[in-house]
Amino acid sequence: MGFTGVRMGAVWGAIFVVLGTISVSRAQLSPTFYNQTCPNVTAIVSSVIQSAFQTDIRIGASLIRLHFHDCFVQGCDASLLLNNSATIVSEQSAPANNNSIRGLDVVNNIKTALESACPNTVSCADILAIAANVSVALASGQGWTVQLGRRDSLTANLSLATSNIPSPFFTLAQLKQNFSFQGLDTTDLVTLSGAHTFGRAQCRVFDNRLYNFNNTGNPDPTLNTTLLATLRQLCPQSEVGANTNLTNLDLTTPNIFDNKYYSNLQQNDGLLNSDQVLFSTSGADTIAIVNNFSANQTAFFEAFATSMIKMGNINPLTGSQGEIRTQCNLVNGASSSSGLIMGGGVESQADDLVSSI
Ligand code: HEM
Ligand SMILES: *[C@@H]1O[C@H](CO)[C@@H](O)[C@H](O)[C@H]1NC(C)=O
Ligand SMILES: *[C@@H]1O[C@H](CO)[C@@H](O)[C@H](O)[C@H]1NC(C)=O
Ligand SMILES: *[C@@H]1O[C@H](CO)[C@@H](O)[C@H](O)[C@H]1NC(C)=O
Ligand SMILES: *[C@@H]1O[C@H](CO)[C@@H](O)[C@H](O)[C@H]1NC(C)=O
Ligand SMILES: *[C@@H]1O[C@H](CO)[C@@H](O)[C@H](O)[C@H]1NC(C)=O
Ligand SMILES: *[C@@H]1O[C@H](CO)[C@@H](O)[C@H](O)[C@H]1NC(C)=O
Ligand SMILES: *[C@@H]1O[C@H](CO)[C@@H](O)[C@H](O)[C@H]1NC(C)=O
Ligand SMILES: *[C@@H]1O[C@H](CO)[C@@H](O)[C@H](O)[C@H]1NC(C)=O
Ligand SMILES: *[C@@H]1O[C@H](CO)[C@@H](O)[C@H](O)[C@H]1NC(C)=O
Ligand SMILES: *[C@@H]1O[C@H](CO)[C@@H](O)[C@H](O)[C@H]1NC(C)=O
Ligand SMILES: *[C@@H]1O[C@H](CO)[C@@H](O)[C@H](O)[C@H]1NC(C)=O
Ligand SMILES: *[C@@H]1O[C@H](CO)[C@@H](O)[C@H](O)[C@H]1NC(C)=O
Repeated sequence: MGFTGVRMGAVWGAIFVVLGTISVSRAQLSPTFYNQTCPNVTAIVSSVIQSAFQTDIRIGASLIRLHFHDCFVQGCDASLLLNNSATIVSEQSAPANNNSIRGLDVVNNIKTALESACPNTVSCADILAIAANVSVALASGQGWTVQLGRRDSLTANLSLATSNIPSPFFTLAQLKQNFSFQGLDTTDLVTLSGAHTFGRAQCRVFDNRLYNFNNTGNPDPTLNTTLLATLRQLCPQSEVGANTNLTNLDLTTPNIFDNKYYSNLQQNDGLLNSDQVLFSTSGADTIAIVNNFSANQTAFFEAFATSMIKMGNINPLTGSQGEIRTQCNLVNGASSSSGLIMGGGVESQADDLVSSI
């Protein structure tokens, strides 16, 4: 058995994976990674998020999305959080992120609290993983056994952020392709899309469905006509492609983490094209999975835990790779001043859906 390649720094939490006659070794994440070095990490993360939640009911949705957009780009390494600087071209200006991602300030507040309690210990990549779990629990969902021990990257990759994060305009085949590239299968795609059980989306990411879908001169036939009428009020034709008005991703229970996302799809009430194609693509293998989760929330929660752990395991840095950043927006030792070239306004608008809460 030729075990090789475990660096000394990675021995903490390393395991040997033996697959038939093939054996590989790799550093492995562990749920107890901070037991000795920062035993209160979950409570500290949770406390900062709960405090933000008092004035921003959307914050949990925004935070879980950060973990997703981080993991799909060179792995779960907090590359997403890096600002522009002398050595970094930020991922935050990629189409999926620019004027869309939120919660970066809350992540920084979490980091400040953790640096105070356990300096130089908890990575920004792990903060995103813990925040995802805490956010789901805070919205009445079910948490999972969060794997920990990721380290933070010294690099970011804007071009990967542009090509790896799927577009809401994609077909099912394209969505499957992007998930498959990450080692995630069709069940993971349907399951993780269930995160759209909370949070908001801007007109510009779905208003192509409302007036002239696919150059047909008609709306998307798989969009419920009742929902269509509501969305046309919010997203007038004159603004298609540029409208930042917000609506709920889950029109049934907009702030609760439950399985209503799937029953919405059965009613043609998926908001994004990328949601509805999971149920409305003719003959697709995703339909049975939607039906399962719609009928059985326990099945959804179990699958969600499994798929979140799988997503959280995408190419982490471990052992002595990368670093533990002291500020999540900067690699250690970098100066923040050159970040100014980027200009402001990366974060999306605050939640203005007060009436729907
Ligand atoms: C399957 C492919 C996916 C596509 C095409 C997609 C696309 C989108 C888009 C376009 C938005 C709205 C952004 C905006 O209007 O500013 C959004 C929001 C959101 N996404 Fe996804 N997403 C996908 C998968 C996921 C996954 C895997 C997760 C997490 C596990 C996730 C979690 C969220 C959440 C929670 C929001 C609401 C964020 C907020 O309110 O700030 N999405 N997504
Ligand atoms: C790590 O800490 C958790 C939470 O305090 C505890 O449940 C668990 O038993 C601890 N595990 C180890 C190996 O110390
Ligand atoms: C853990 O953190 C929470 C939230 O900041 C705090 O209320 C609690 O006192 C801390 N517990 C310990 C043992 O430090
Ligand atoms: C991001 O959005 C800002 C503000 O709308 C815009 O000025 C900038 O050009 C956008 N960046 C990219 C890379 O699209
Ligand atoms: C994940 O969420 C569960 C359920 O709320 C909680 O028991 C657990 O402590 C959380 N773990 C982490 C690391 O956030
Ligand atoms: C981004 O990733 C691509 C593909 O792995 C690679 O060719 C490119 O050099 C990377 N760019 C940066 C800035 O690291
Ligand atoms: C994601 O899918 C799009 C559309 O099929 C494709 O152009 C892109 O290369 C894919 N990226 C990855 C990493 O799979
Ligand atoms: C969009 O139109 C093209 C060409 O007319 C067609 O091949 C494709 O199936 C249509 N897509 C959808 C989602 O209707
Ligand atoms: C935003 O939605 C409101 C209805 O809530 C609508 O009156 C307004 O025109 C929309 N804004 C834009 C820029 O389209
Ligand atoms: C559209 O939604 C209504 C409830 O608002 C529902 O009764 C109807 O069955 C849905 N239509 C389709 C085609 O799913
Ligand atoms: C719901 O799913 C759970 C978990 O997969 C399973 O144990 C249970 O039997 C399912 N319930 C029904 C009614 O199918
Ligand atoms: C429903 O999902 C659960 C959880 O992933 C799975 O164990 C079960 O086999 C699925 N049932 C059906 C009928 O697909
Ligand atoms: C990163 O950029 C954001 C604005 O996009 C700014 O608020 C934040 O202070 C910057 N972080 C650092 C460490 O410069």
